[in-house]
Amino acid sequence: MRSHYCGEVNESHIGQTVTLCGWAHRRRDHGGVIFVDLRDRAGLLQTVFDPDQREAFALAEGVRNEYVLRVTGQVRHRPPGTENPHLSTGKVEVAASALEILNRSEPLPFQHDDSELSEPVRLRYRYLDLRRDVMQRNLRLRHRAVKSLRAFLEQQGFTEIETPILTKSTPEGARDYLVPSRTHPGRFFALPQSPQLFKQLLMMSGFERYYQFARCFRDEDLRADRQPEFTQLDIETSFLDEQGVMSLMEAMIRSLFRTVLNVDLPDPIPRLSYAEAIRRFASDKPDLRNPLELVDVADLVKGCEFKVFAGPAGDPAGRVAALRVPKGGELTRSQIDEYTVHVGLFGAKGLAYIKVNDAAKGREGLQSPILKFLSDQAIAGIMGRTGAQNGDLIFFGADKARVVNDALGALRLKLGTDLALTVSGWKPLWVVDFPMFEFDAEAKRFVALHHPFTAPRAEDEAMVDKDPANVRARAYDMVLNGSEIGGGSIRIHRSELQSRVFSTLGIEEQEAGEKFGFLLEALKFGAPPHGGIAFGIDRIAALMAGVDSIREVIAFPKTQKASCPLTDAPGPVSEAQLRELSIRVRLPAAETAGEPGGKKL
Ligand code: AMO
Ligand code: AMP
Repeated sequence: MRSHYCGEVNESHIGQTVTLCGWAHRRRDHGGVIFVDLRDRAGLLQTVFDPDQREAFALAEGVRNEYVLRVTGQVRHRPPGTENPHLSTGKVEVAASALEILNRSEPLPFQHDDSELSEPVRLRYRYLDLRRDVMQRNLRLRHRAVKSLRAFLEQQGFTEIETPILTKSTPEGARDYLVPSRTHPGRFFALPQSPQLFKQLLMMSGFERYYQFARCFRDEDLRADRQPEFTQLDIETSFLDEQGVMSLMEAMIRSLFRTVLNVDLPDPIPRLSYAEAIRRFASDKPDLRNPLELVDVADLVKGCEFKVFAGPAGDPAGRVAALRVPKGGELTRSQIDEYTVHVGLFGAKGLAYIKVNDAAKGREGLQSPILKFLSDQAIAGIMGRTGAQNGDLIFFGADKARVVNDALGALRLKLGTDLALTVSGWKPLWVVDFPMFEFDAEAKRFVALHHPFTAPRAEDEAMVDKDPANVRARAYDMVLNGSEIGGGSIRIHRSELQSRVFSTLGIEEQEAGEKFGFLLEALKFGAPPHGGIAFGIDRIAALMAGVDSIREVIAFPKTQKASCPLTDAPGPVSEAQLRELSIRVRLPAAETAGEPGGKKL
């Protein structure tokens, strides 16, 4: 139907007759001459309809935005002074001799260039939203990223293998999406939270190097970087230790950034222990573009008069930390109050601070509501350890370590943006030496920090049952600009050790047998040492595209409430379907009242 793509026509085509297909991006009637900017996948091209071409002109008069057109005409220079330097085709235009209207369009519910588009409207008409240049660019960039990753893995001898979507629960810490079985009444499949167990089984099958662009499903609270279904680049290898996996994977990520963005990431990618990441940045996914760092001051304020500090300083589960803000002395009282409100969202009960006016004057040169509670020695210690200079401000957090880390971690990020301290660029790192288990105070038991199939360090194996809190895992996360883009580990490949880990996690023999019997059994038939990783493709694509939310790089994402405004999923199903599945719906009281028919499964 066409001879050229609109976006590819340029001065080299001048004099040629071309046939183009696309959408009427914009139509302008300049008293006698009609201009139609024709848009296709490659870009925009100006077509011109002159009254001399009577038939084409008459048709062009009826063209409206987003009509689908086929235009034939001759490429010529635009008249001097009318070139458009912002367009690759801006020096030329097509003098149309024939026009065919392939389809009409009703007026769109929104304009392409509307910068205030609301997300519900965008998602309701996602197919139109995706016509926009920025969305076309985002999805093409994602495609190029996937292509580059696949090429690297192909070259390294990986085999792409698909694993089931209808499966059994694969614990990754979220709620499962369940699918009722018709043939086994009362039983349910779970959609995979990840292909974790299958990829381990494939190592037991001898594939040695597997990968898959795997759709994963997690019913969890959604945020900008979380969707209920998302894509992982899932990878598993045999006979590689963590050094081997990490160096192969960082070579892959470097190659990705080189081919798609022409960016050279550091070689090697720096590594930081979990403990150091928490200590310095109060986060296990620190944004290293932000120069602010925390220091611990518990030892300096232990036993001081200020109970807010003394309490956590003497509590093994507590933390007292200081955050120096260069030039923070300029912050006003009301700005400090706003930051206090912000840390409150993360559970902090306050936000103590010291303004450094003139450090040489000692106590007299400082300004703070808490000075009176602190000894000269403590003040000198804090000044020394934070390295505070005149004009700086020091913030403090004191509470259970978790609260301090959440609060000061968030404050660090906010200050980085507000004060323009966070630089641009790419700062990847590996976080390593994770603890294997974490004590869940609510459930009163240990939970796996990664997942229960992660191997402990060889020298810590004996402590799995005796001292779980101090066992270190052979796990690694890759972090980029404050976003966790991938995580993995070396796995347990001995059945006996796997059983002991289950038991530490409170999964007793019978339950372990019911849930993971197939894995425990498979581990007994010559399972090789193995390990792998999974990268979040949506997150990587979002970072590369420079967008705030992974929804911008997913063609048809879900809303914050895990629904799809376009198809109106999840939707109701018929009584007959429910009966076939042996399911009766019991809605929460409020919903029954509002929706007599029952809307959700
Ligand atoms: P993990 O749970 O860390 O590991 O997931 C791997 C990566 O997937 C991305 N990710 C998500 N992206 C979008 N929306 C979500 N809801 C979401 N959840 C996770 C993150 C994360 O780093 N089986 C293990 C991997 C392994 O051990 O090999 C796993 O799934 O970028
Ligand atoms: P107060 O004695 O409650 O008036 O608090 C004195 C100062 O300590 C105020 O600036 C509070 O914001 C701050 N503060 C109170 N609780 C904490 C806490 N848990 N961590 C850090 N600062 C706090």
